[in-house]
Amino acid sequence: MSVRGTMRMTMADMADLADATPGAYRLENADTYLTPPAHVLEATRAAVGVDEFNSYPPLRGLRSLREAIAARIREDIGVEYDPESEIVVTCGAGESLLNALLATVTPGERVLLTNPTYSGMAQRVRLAGGVQAFTNLVDDGARWSLDPASVPTDCRVALIASPCMPTGTVFTRAEVETLVGDSLVIFNGAADRRCTPTGPRAATTCWSTSRRPGSARTRSRRSCCARRRLP
Ligand SMILES: Cc1ncc(COP(=O)(O)O)c(C=O)c1O
Repeated sequence: MSVRGTMRMTMADMADLADATPGAYRLENADTYLTPPAHVLEATRAAVGVDEFNSYPPLRGLRSLREAIAARIREDIGVEYDPESEIVVTCGAGESLLNALLATVTPGERVLLTNPTYSGMAQRVRLAGGVQAFTNLVDDGARWSLDPASVPTDCRVALIASPCMPTGTVFTRAEVETLVGDSLVIFNGAADRRCTPTGPRAATTCWSTSRRPGSARTRSRRSCCARRRLP
C-alpha cells in the first residue's frame, strides 16, 4: 500500500512567509486578532463540566441546535429548512464539505474551484476522488474578481465560497451566475452570514458556526450542512 502525500499549495508557502514576517496577517485560514464575543466565551466556560454537555449528542445533531440553525437561515436569507430532514450538524465546515463532496462527486470527475482558494477546499476535492478544475480570480486593482474566460464549462459540481478565502472576494450576482452555470453548488459559507449562491439548481450549503466575517473562532466548532434550492 502506498500513501499519497498532501499537495503543497502556493497558499502554504504564503502562510509560512506570513508567519516569518513580523506584523504580517496570515489569511490562510482566516485567523484574526479578534476575540470571540463575550457571551460566547461565557457560555463556553459555563458549559464545561456540565453533564448535559458532556456526552455524545445525537449523530445528526441536537434537535435544539438544528432548530436554531433553521431559524438563523430563515432570518438571514428567508429560506425554510426542515430541521428534521434537511439539516445535519457536523464537526466544522470541513467535515460537512467533505461529506457533501463524497455524496456528490464521481471519482475522476472535475470539480470547479476558484483560484486562489482555501486549501482545505482543494484538498477535500482530491480526497473525495475529484479533480480540481480551477478558475482564476484576478487582482484588478479594486478587488480580486472573476476572470470569466477561465471558467470551465464541464464541471457538474462547483465548490465555492463567498466571501472567498484568501482574497475576501464577495462575488457579484453576475459572477456567481457565471461560476455556477447549471452545476450543482456546494457552498462553503464558513465566513458568511448574508452571501449565498444563486443558481438554477439545488445547492448543498455548508455553514460554519466557528467563523463569521469580522470574528474568528466564535461559537461552537460545529457546522450545518443543508441541501435545498436557494433563492
Ligand atoms: C474558508 C474556510 N472554510 C472552511 C474552514 C474550516 O472551517 P471549520 O473550522 O468550521 O471546519 C476554514 C478554516 O480555516 C476556512 O478558512
